[in-house]
Amino acid sequence: MLSIKGVNQFYGESHTLWDLDMYIPKGKCTVLMGRNGVGKTTLLQCVMGLLPVKSGEILLQGKDMAPLRAESRARHGVGYVPQGRQIFSSLTVEENLQIGLPIRAKGDRKIPEFIYQLFPVLKEMLHRRGGDLSGGQQQQLAIGRALVINPQLLILDEPTEGIQPNIVQEIGDIIRKLNQELGLTVLLVEQKLPFARKVGDNFCLLDRGRVVAKGEMAMLTDDLIQEYLTV
Ligand SMILES: Nc1ncnc2c1ncn2[C@@H]1O[C@H](COP(=O)(O)OP(=O)(O)OP(=O)(O)O)[C@@H](O)[C@H]1O
Ligand SMILES: [Mg+2]
Repeated sequence: MLSIKGVNQFYGESHTLWDLDMYIPKGKCTVLMGRNGVGKTTLLQCVMGLLPVKSGEILLQGKDMAPLRAESRARHGVGYVPQGRQIFSSLTVEENLQIGLPIRAKGDRKIPEFIYQLFPVLKEMLHRRGGDLSGGQQQQLAIGRALVINPQLLILDEPTEGIQPNIVQEIGDIIRKLNQELGLTVLLVEQKLPFARKVGDNFCLLDRGRVVAKGEMAMLTDDLIQEYLTV
């Protein structure tokens, strides 16, 4: 589905991603892991076209994404839930959801009903301001907004960060449902190990901008966790 090949990225002089290779197979949930500051968000922003890469390739179903701007990448079926949610607090829930609509195909400017089925609370709170929602509700809104374009690939950056434990469980169930029942391919950044194990089929572990291990979730050993995840 998504191939990342030999990607190098710099912030000015600072070499942040090093010859990074990663493959996200169709229909699976792949979890990108690693401690704070190793480059997880940077990689996602490169995939979304929000940051330029110095070298390497990013292919979506074999198509080179390099010439495409962020909006076109979304139009090619990539939904993105950024770290920290980034919803608009002065806009209503409905207006936040509508932001993705212009990217949908022409003549189809309605928020898909399945989003309200997944997140009934969004329907109840349609006319409330984004800023009035709880953290968990805002996260549901951020996921709902990414789903408005009917993506094939959904990318989520730490969706459980700063969320109450009972809502974390709910968000895990939603991601599983999107992946297993609705067939979305998922790329998830997650630092919580039990959550990653519950929703993920595969993992990719980063350390200081390099991939240090990857494979099926069952291959994420205690030694790897000790060396690259435990703080
Ligand atoms: N805009 C920027 N300019 C310069 N350096 C940056 C910028 N954004 C991030 N960095 C640096 O790049 C490195 C990777 O950051 P990144 O945000 O990708 O890490 P992360 O793995 O997502 O961390 P976290 O788990 O805390 O979200 C860090 O050393 C960070 O300080
Ligand atoms: Mg990050």
